[in-house]
Amino acid sequence: MTPIDTMQRQLEEIFTPARVKTAPEDLAAWGGDWTRAFRVAPSAIVFPQSIDDVVQLTQLANARGLHLVPSGGRTGLSGGAVASDGEIVVSFDRMNRVLDFNAADRIVRCEAGVVTQTLQEYAAARDLFYPVDFASSGSSQIGGNISTNAGGIKVIRYGLTRDWVAGLTVVTGAGDVLECNNGLVKNATGYDLRHLFIGAEGTLGFILQADLRLLPAPAPARVMVLAIDRFADVLNVLQSFQRGLTLSAFEFFSELALTKVLDHRDVARPFAKPANFYALVEFDADDEEAALGAFETIVREGWVGDGVVSRSDAQAQSLWALREDITESIAPHTPYKNDIAVRVSDVPAFLDDIDRLVGTHYPDFEVCWFGHIGDGNLHLNILKPEDLSADAFYERCHRISPALFEAIRNRRGSISAEHGVGLLKRDFLHYSRSPREIALMRQLKAVFDPKGVMNPGKLLTP
Ligand code: MLT
Ligand code: ZN
Repeated sequence: MTPIDTMQRQLEEIFTPARVKTAPEDLAAWGGDWTRAFRVAPSAIVFPQSIDDVVQLTQLANARGLHLVPSGGRTGLSGGAVASDGEIVVSFDRMNRVLDFNAADRIVRCEAGVVTQTLQEYAAARDLFYPVDFASSGSSQIGGNISTNAGGIKVIRYGLTRDWVAGLTVVTGAGDVLECNNGLVKNATGYDLRHLFIGAEGTLGFILQADLRLLPAPAPARVMVLAIDRFADVLNVLQSFQRGLTLSAFEFFSELALTKVLDHRDVARPFAKPANFYALVEFDADDEEAALGAFETIVREGWVGDGVVSRSDAQAQSLWALREDITESIAPHTPYKNDIAVRVSDVPAFLDDIDRLVGTHYPDFEVCWFGHIGDGNLHLNILKPEDLSADAFYERCHRISPALFEAIRNRRGSISAEHGVGLLKRDFLHYSRSPREIALMRQLKAVFDPKGVMNPGKLLTP
């Protein structure tokens, strides 16, 4: 028997043959994520159905030196769930049950493979609300969201995934099961290990179950889209709205991003006359009068050329599509994604830095801008020219990235605001974290995953 046959037999003993896949098309389907730049070459895909399955697998990996890659909805944009080197992909597709709901605590207990939208609908059916939301909600899974501390489009009001995790059940890289925080509101008993696993990108262990807090259903919302010519005015517009009302989203996108959506989708241009930038503002319908007041001010100041406000849920959804469909619309252009953040107060000066950099370093590339500017988080996507190979394009982008990351470091910003580090940003981590921090991160990994079986090569260089 070859070592591969032995490994397959051992996996089948834990999972039964029906839950171990090795066919090339399955390896290709489950071995990657939404990034398209990395080699996809796992040796097997397994589908646990219980905590015990994962414990046994982790013990096997420690005994045999196997490498494990946790995999959720595979919507990641930094290669965090890509298996490039014979790893075993651990898919949570079959651990997708909502296990428990407690109305008094307003806490729902989910398995890692529950799809975000399923949780949102589960909450809505009980007149409650799970506020973390993004364009990939229809396929992203809770375990992956927690592993990357996913942000999305409502952070300005509701915060990040971390803010909604009241408890976690994890299996460490050493095979230990930990119950972290048990859904408690208060728990002052030392290190909160739950928060180490949130955003760890599967490098410390597996997230198996989560207690997630829900909110009462929000008030009906209105959406406004605004045409803005000068980038700096996007922030003037944000401040005008924030003076009078509480926003649930403030997003922006460039004319190029809009053009790509219009080319890709059957949606209407919001205004006859194109502008350089657009802002999308979401607010409670009860605040409409205040929003219209802010609109009058920003038009009077000359910051906004035109605006449209939704009159129905369907209209709100079509306005949101202009922003939410950008990722899918630019995907055929093999974008090189920069997901960067500075403090909101540093955004105007940072935009000047970026303008200069883009002009100098990316003159022959299309640069597509959008993002959660209300959080200081910009998505700067560089689009691949058709006649350039993906490898050559990525190599050039990687070569010019340091200039951008240097500007981020100078403003004490982050090279990855919400997508995670994964493979894509791993070699640049030192632009956002000090050598001492990285050394401590390595030590933490060694504590939870002493044999290095968990998601090797992600986040930290091997
Ligand atoms: C978004 O804001 O739409 C997501 O982060 C995805 C992306 O950046 O492409
Ligand atoms: Zn985003």
